[in-house]
Amino acid sequence: MNTQDIKTKEDAYTAPTYARYDVALVRGKGARARDPEGREYIDFTSGIGVNALGFCDPAWVEAVQRQAAALQHTSNLYYTEPCARAAEKLMALTGMENMFFANSGAEANEGAIKCARKYSFEKYGQGEEGGGGRYRIVTLEGSFHGRTIATITATGQENYHRYFTPFLQGFDYAQTNNTASLLETVTDQTCAIMVEFVQGEGGVIELDRAFVSEIERLCAERDILLIADEVQAGVGRTGRFCSYEYYGVKPDIVTLAKGLGGGLPIGGVLFSEKTKDVLRAGDHGSTFGGGPVVCAGMEAVLDRFADGSFLKEITDKGAYMREKLAAMDGVAGVSGLGLMLGADIGGRDASAVVKACLARGLLLLTAKKRLRFLPPLVVTKEDIDEGLAILAGALAEAPEGNQ
Ligand SMILES: Cc1ncc(COP(=O)(O)O)c(C=O)c1O
Repeated sequence: MNTQDIKTKEDAYTAPTYARYDVALVRGKGARARDPEGREYIDFTSGIGVNALGFCDPAWVEAVQRQAAALQHTSNLYYTEPCARAAEKLMALTGMENMFFANSGAEANEGAIKCARKYSFEKYGQGEEGGGGRYRIVTLEGSFHGRTIATITATGQENYHRYFTPFLQGFDYAQTNNTASLLETVTDQTCAIMVEFVQGEGGVIELDRAFVSEIERLCAERDILLIADEVQAGVGRTGRFCSYEYYGVKPDIVTLAKGLGGGLPIGGVLFSEKTKDVLRAGDHGSTFGGGPVVCAGMEAVLDRFADGSFLKEITDKGAYMREKLAAMDGVAGVSGLGLMLGADIGGRDASAVVKACLARGLLLLTAKKRLRFLPPLVVTKEDIDEGLAILAGALAEAPEGNQ
């Protein structure tokens, strides 16, 4: 099928939930993808931070194919080797104690929310509203935690809070990087504070160190659980395995997804010593969670982190990309860590710039009114140079405007 045929069919037969570009992709290698007509695109998106090892990494393909041919699914009533090995490797990389396998970021966050509420429920008694009244979860304005009812409620952005009422009770929103607002929002009913240390969808905004210290202090003093949503920033994206490592904190629950399976749907809720036994048989589950094929893909991703060299490469390439971006005409500021970067383009229309890049052969993302860069972690300096040259051309032609 050519691009037009694919587009016509998908538009006809899939629900119109995505504002898509007129591009279809059929194959890829590393940070390069091709459309049906053979046109090449440089990929600065990795499918919104998913294809950690790029398109069709040979070791990942081999692991997934081998497992698919051996045993594709068993149900969680039985043990499987890929699940055992992948979980062990993830615990070694994060220092967490154990994990629950989910299928997506939103599902991982649902598991984290359930764990936080049950922790309070068991420790502080049932109370009128559960958890001895400690059932509320504080999240941050500008955050993004997913699309299920619980996780859109957790998401601190008004535009997601339309149409689907009534929402889940018990979420409060503090202003990002505003300690006074945090102190006002946390109450004696708070059981958890859930944050992205680098907000992705919110514009690639890092939390301030002083703000994080205040979160840490509140959590320690009041036995509030700290949930790190590392769905976008985790799995090496920022140059550390998880972005909270930059802040020297130790969360009680960590959620991962996106890059974890290298392109297969997987999510993880990781538990610390304090939370590892909270969810027990019957409390939580998933039909597909932790299936052998996705775990084989996850293991291939994690094997890349076996020594520190991959993280160092990510940090070096991130610094290189950041420096080049910061020096580019039309870029007013760069935010983010490692290969998770955001650019302020000084009032230019970010969506129009992304479209202009697409027309020139570069896949790029927006986040709020900014450009967002999530290249595969295996992106090369040549890919970065070529992609940024395309961006420079698109920016040079973008009217400055007043977005
Ligand atoms: C920080 C964060 N949390 C949760 C999610 C939801 O993940 P999923 O789309 O896999 O449900 C996302 C998705 O963009 C995210 O960026």
